[in-house]
Parts: sequence; C-alpha cells; structure tokens
Amino acid sequence: MQFHASGMSAARQRTACAIVGVHEGAAMTGSARALDRACGGVIGRLLRRGDFSGKTGEVLPILAARKGPAERVLLVGLGPRSGYGRKQYRRAVVVATQWLAKSGAANALSYLAVDPVPGAEPYYAARHAVESVSSTLYRIPDLKSGRKPPRPKLARIGIAVPVADLVAARRGIKDGRGVAAGMALMRDLANLPANVCTPTYLAGAARKLAAEHKSVRARVLDVREIRRLKMGSFLSVTRGSDEPPRLIVLEYRGASSREAPVALVGKGITFDTGGISLKQPPGMDEMKFDMSGAASVFGAFKALATIGAAVNVVGIIPTCENMPSGRATRPGDIVTSMSGKTIEVLNTDAEGRLILCDGISYARRFKPSAVVDIATLTGACVIALGAHYCGLFSPDEKLASAIAAAGERADDRAWRLPVAEEYSDLLKSNFADMANVAGREAGAITAACFLWKFTDGLRWAHLDIAGSAYLSGSQKGSTGRPVPLLVDWLLHGR
Ligand code: BES
Ligand code: MN
Ligand code: ZN
Repeated sequence: MQFHASGMSAARQRTACAIVGVHEGAAMTGSARALDRACGGVIGRLLRRGDFSGKTGEVLPILAARKGPAERVLLVGLGPRSGYGRKQYRRAVVVATQWLAKSGAANALSYLAVDPVPGAEPYYAARHAVESVSSTLYRIPDLKSGRKPPRPKLARIGIAVPVADLVAARRGIKDGRGVAAGMALMRDLANLPANVCTPTYLAGAARKLAAEHKSVRARVLDVREIRRLKMGSFLSVTRGSDEPPRLIVLEYRGASSREAPVALVGKGITFDTGGISLKQPPGMDEMKFDMSGAASVFGAFKALATIGAAVNVVGIIPTCENMPSGRATRPGDIVTSMSGKTIEVLNTDAEGRLILCDGISYARRFKPSAVVDIATLTGACVIALGAHYCGLFSPDEKLASAIAAAGERADDRAWRLPVAEEYSDLLKSNFADMANVAGREAGAITAACFLWKFTDGLRWAHLDIAGSAYLSGSQKGSTGRPVPLLVDWLLHGR
C-alpha cells in the first residue's frame, strides 16, 4: 500500500473515492462542507433527507457527479462532535478501509485528518491513519488449501491535511509505514504454528531481516555457545525439547557508535507446554504465541530500519521450546544462571523468567542505556489488565513514565504495576538464591520481581504482554502490540 500526504488546497485532484467524516446528527465537518461544495451539494441533500446519521461505525458510499474531485464519496460516521477524539477517528479509518477493501476502488483520498482530531497532533493523525489502514488490511498468512480470496484493488491512499500540517503529516506517514511494517512482521511470526516457527526458524528470520536492511546485523548462537556463556537458567528450559535452542542477537545502528544502545530482550518460547508442570489442555494451542515478546523485538527492528531511525538498539532473543520429556527439568531442580545466582525451579511452567534473566545478563556486555524486556510472562497479568493495557514494571520512575507516555501517544497502552521488596521477598528459597515462583497472589508482580533481581545497576523496565499481544476466540491472532509503543518510545520518548 502506498500512502501520501496532500495539502487540502492541492487536493483538487480527482480520486476514486473521497472519505469524509460526518458527526452524529448529520453534522458536516469542515472538510465535508468543502467537498460538498465541490460536488454540487450532493452530500448536503443526502443528509437533509436523513439517509445518514453520522453514528460511529456508519458508512455510506455515494456516487458523485461525473466531474468534480471524486468518483465516489464515502461518508463515515464520527459520532457526536463532543465525544470526538483519537479513538473515533481511528474507528472511522478502520470502517472506511473495510469498505474500500471490498470495493473496486484502486485509490482513495481521506479527508478525515483535515479537521483537527482532539488528542492527536497532525503527526499522529497521519501516523495513526497509516497504522489503522495497514492493520485493517493485514491478512494472516494462513495454510488454508482453498482458493485465496482476491486481493483488494486498493493500492494508493492519500491523506489530505491543511497545508500548514504537510511536513508533520509526511513525517507521520513515514513513521506509520515503519510501524505498520514492524507490526506485520510481528504478526506474521507470532501467527505461525510452533511446528513451523521453531527457534531455528526465528534465527532464519533474523538473518533475513539483516539481509534486507544494511542497518541491521544478526548473530545467532547455538547450544554450544549458549553453554559457553553459562546460561544454565535458559538451558534448563530447553532440556526437555528436541528442537535446538538459539540465542539471537540483533543490532540496529542508526546513531553515532559512541551512543550507548537500548537493549530489547524478547521472550522467545516457541511453544509453552508448561514442561513437567504441564498445562491443562484447553487453549494450549495459544502457547504458540509465547514468542510474542521475541516477535515484537523483530517488529521494532523492522520498523526502525524502515524508518531509518537515529538510535542504536540491540535485540536479545533467547528462544526455545518448553516441553516435558525424560530429560526435562523437574520441579525442585536447582540451576545456575549466567549471573551466578542459583534458582530453585519450583514450577517448570514459570519458564519465561528463566530464559529472560540470562538474556538480561547477556545485555550487560553492550553497556546499554536502558534494558526493556518484553514477554508474555504471566496469566496473572491477563487477569489484572485484560487485553487493553499491557503491564509495565520498573523501579525507575522516569523510565516508567516515558514508556507509559509513549504507549499513550502510540495508542498502545501500558499500565504501571509495582516492583517492591515486599513482593520479591516472596521468592525466597531454602535451597537456592531464589525460587522461580511465589504463591498465587500478585503473580504478575512477583514474576517482574524475579527479573528485577538480575538488573542491578541497569536502567530496566519489563512489559508483560500476555493479555495484549494476541486475541483469542474467533479473532484469534497476533495484534502486533507492543511494536507501536516500543517504536514511539525509541523515536520520541527516551
Ligand atoms: N506463557 C505463560 C504465561 C501466559 C499465560 C501467557 C496465559 C498468556 C496467557 C507463562 O510461561 C506461564 O506459564 N506462567 C505461569 C506462571 C506460574 C506458573 C507462576 C502462569 O501464568 O500461570
Ligand atoms: Mn509457562
Ligand atoms: Zn510461557
């Protein structure tokens, strides 16, 4: 899909479909009024007849005159003027895109960003439009054997903005395109089944990313090198699996080599059975999404490389399967992490933290300015926050608020939960430096506190994306989150 910005006055060009917003009560936006004049008053006549009310989610295509700025005009409901904001704007872009995809229109020009969107500066209005259009057009690379539905003809979308906003809108489109490419990559990887998307497959995806972008380097460490690094905690998780583990190291260089990189550490469990602490069968298939943290790191790199962002980032992805077998780690086994700290594995299903703690220790060699780990870490986080906010944990006030603010701007929200001694005390073990689980209470927080123990002297934050990274039920699939948050933080928020 191609996107371009055009100044409202220059938007006299003819388009196959003009997208125009109408508020509830059939109240025209400024851009609707302008287009109405250019189309000989068709929109006004239609509204006066009561054919369109302007409720959120409502769409109505109308044929415009032979001459004039558009072959068709698609009216999109924006809801009441008083409640209008980013959410309603994005919803309008989504429903318009759904209609366009089913239509025969090859190009369209959206006037939705001509009128101010409360809560979104022109940069974000353009960026959110590109992200929403791209997300809506995303198709799962499924393995259905029937004939594929025809691809939408839609190939080019213009975003009209006031001339004064053109520069900001162009930046928004550029960044939006990068974020959209990153989200699509994350979703493609996370949606793949675990018999395809193995640690070896992810290593191949890293090499492919590096081959596509000069600014990205990929290194892949195999089990012998992982052993040499003494990642006993990571290795304890992979023991039960016949699939070989990998440690993937991505580097994106967009700034001066003197600038310390940010480290992103992604949980790459390609399938989580729970190991000997085996999970219940219902919904276990969804544990193929347990590499969503890793996929989000790939997505962030894709976005940064597409944008050409002026930052340095390293991505560290410990990836393996968590399987039961005769060789698998048992509850009660004690392992030694790369940091030297010993861990009593009381529950083999709390495996994410076991691979991440070694990933965080490995990040130290890059002397990072900040370390952010991203993981589908706990069911408890899903209970606490559901799908709308991911969990954000950091003892660093400034880092936590910067990440939360990036989430707000990016429409990819994170809500802060505490990390505190009172909770880490619950991880005490009689036999090792710590246990890998505490009780049932505050499960998302005790998981974060486990990781916290490995972050001495680092500026660290943890994102628990167990609820936000994918949807269940009829909408089952990866959401591409938190790529927008990560990229916004790296671009604008550090
Ligand atoms: N991958 C799961 C967390 C998870 C659960 C993600 C549900 C998405 C949906 C993680 O490895 C896990 O199993 N966590 C355990 C921890 C427990 C044993 C302390 C959990 O949440 O039950
Ligand atoms: Mn688990
Ligand atoms: Zn897991």
